[in-house]
Amino acid sequence: MISKEDADTLKQLSAEEALKFISTKFSDGVVFSTSLGQEDQVITDMIFRNKLPVKVFTLDTGRLFYEHYELLSKNNSRYKVNTEVYFPDASEVEKYVNEKGINAFYHSVENRKECCFIRKVKPLNRALENANVWITGLRSEQSENRENMPVIEWDEERKLYKYNPLIHWSYQEVLDYLEQHKVQELTLHKKGFISVGCQPCTRAIEEGENQRAGRWWWESSHKECGLHTN
Ligand code: ADX
Ligand code: SF4
Repeated sequence: MISKEDADTLKQLSAEEALKFISTKFSDGVVFSTSLGQEDQVITDMIFRNKLPVKVFTLDTGRLFYEHYELLSKNNSRYKVNTEVYFPDASEVEKYVNEKGINAFYHSVENRKECCFIRKVKPLNRALENANVWITGLRSEQSENRENMPVIEWDEERKLYKYNPLIHWSYQEVLDYLEQHKVQELTLHKKGFISVGCQPCTRAIEEGENQRAGRWWWESSHKECGLHTN
């Protein structure tokens, strides 16, 4: 249970100190979902360098970039801890692909959301079973939908606290941390990719474009996959 005092303390601590505080307080059931993006590499470094008792996991949708696997492997070697990998249910993916087509997500927003639901949301919910605190790398600058997200909030649907230690960080702060701590990152970032999701659903962005413009670029939807919206 997070009291009002705890919530106030969290707001005053640095992200690293706050991660220590929360993982000590709950000691069990604190989990972190990493997409291997830049924000998540910052948090991964804070968790593994401090040997915090946090389960770190990633969702392998089956449609990721080669570069994701390359970085996952580098992380495992550097920190000497294996990030856990969750996969979607094979029969659900087979049914979807065989009935709708291998790239059906391009055909409609509905198809795209169904693919995200099968490949991301359901495995996420499985990974969060029995968790008390779910750590994410969300930042409020990333989109309108994330603008007013708090540092910590109760997720009634999943019955856990959702904790976003970098919610108020600027992109520059993320870059500074990565450089200062010599943290490895996806080689895609040097090629114009900022926010990176699945390979068929992500393109590089042009200068001046929103950081999430390359996600589901063919859609004019809110560009969320259901991990952070209901
Ligand atoms: S998404 O909803 O649009 O895909 P985004 O890529 O911005 O999310 O990442 C925001 C946060 O969602 C990440 O910091 C991470 O906590 C979580 N997340 C997104 N994709 C994954 C993934 N494939 N595996 C684990 N966590 C993920
Ligand atoms: Fe499917 Fe694209 Fe969503 Fe990945 S991002 S789960 S490929 S629709």
